[in-house]
Amino acid sequence: MVALARSALPIADDVDISTFKHDVLKGLGARRKHLPPKYFYDAAGSQLFDRITDQAEYYPTRCEMHILQDNAAEIMRLVPAGAALVEFGSGSNKKARILLAAAPVLAAYVPVDISGEMLEREADALQLDFPRLNIQPVAADFTHEFELPEEAKAAPVRVGLFPGSTIGNFEPHEASSFLRNAAKILGPNSKLIIGADLIKPTDILNAAYNDAAGVTAKFNLNLLVRINRELGGTFDIKSFEHHAFFNRERHRIEMHLASLKRQKVKVAGECFDFRAGETIHTENSYKYSVESLGALARGVGWQPSAVWTDAKKYFSVQAFTMGPKG
Ligand code: AVJ
Repeated sequence: MVALARSALPIADDVDISTFKHDVLKGLGARRKHLPPKYFYDAAGSQLFDRITDQAEYYPTRCEMHILQDNAAEIMRLVPAGAALVEFGSGSNKKARILLAAAPVLAAYVPVDISGEMLEREADALQLDFPRLNIQPVAADFTHEFELPEEAKAAPVRVGLFPGSTIGNFEPHEASSFLRNAAKILGPNSKLIIGADLIKPTDILNAAYNDAAGVTAKFNLNLLVRINRELGGTFDIKSFEHHAFFNRERHRIEMHLASLKRQKVKVAGECFDFRAGETIHTENSYKYSVESLGALARGVGWQPSAVWTDAKKYFSVQAFTMGPKG
């Protein structure tokens, strides 16, 4: 049993099927076909992502974990006793665990995720290892404003945590909106700790998204498997191919699914034509420099206050502070 009872959580549907359908039909109907990367993470996709993080070529997760492990005490010096720690898009709280082990007594730890089911499961597991921690999960889409639990609002200060280079999935203007929204939610004198992948030589970036075992390819193609299953799609998975490359001008990895031939595909009763070689753009993973993320943050009022990187400078954990006026 858990030491502290947590209040019942308003469970939002994991992914609303009509939203999924709407987004897929819209993306496939566009002149340049695209699909939102957030739909990668069904049960199979989440497992494939976990396997990606074990691949030798995929450095981000390993690097970030090392940075957090090596600097947990110093990073947690940003968090005063009695603060609330708010994690955006917690998923599995593997990263938060490292920091929580080095944290002072907190008013609350608030994992925020769109998947209510995942939140409950992870919170229960976390509670076993941190029996005295006040865990207050919130099922919400953190790209929009949401209410924090009372204990977090009442705390003298709130510290945001946004690990995993999830910020890389946002377009720069969306990243800027997220940072503005985070400031609004966390309030005056808050702090924000972000894990961001860094710009580095192209061969290392390309290898990370083209692992030799083909796990990333499978992860990408799983989106079509999901559409077939959930939206009555007729994608012939074998006639699409994983493409991933670093776009130097835009500082981003692009992932696409390329049609190997001219073909027609039906989804939810609608028909889509593919030219041979035509692609569906499935993901952008933006890479930052300490300076470029700092500039983006400063633009919406966050002052850069500390940076930690691994020895090879592949990945960064960056801390920002909001002024007393927010
Ligand atoms: C979970 C968005 C950080 O961009 O590296 C991994 C997702 N896509 N391999 C990333 C991903 C292909 C990952 N993020």
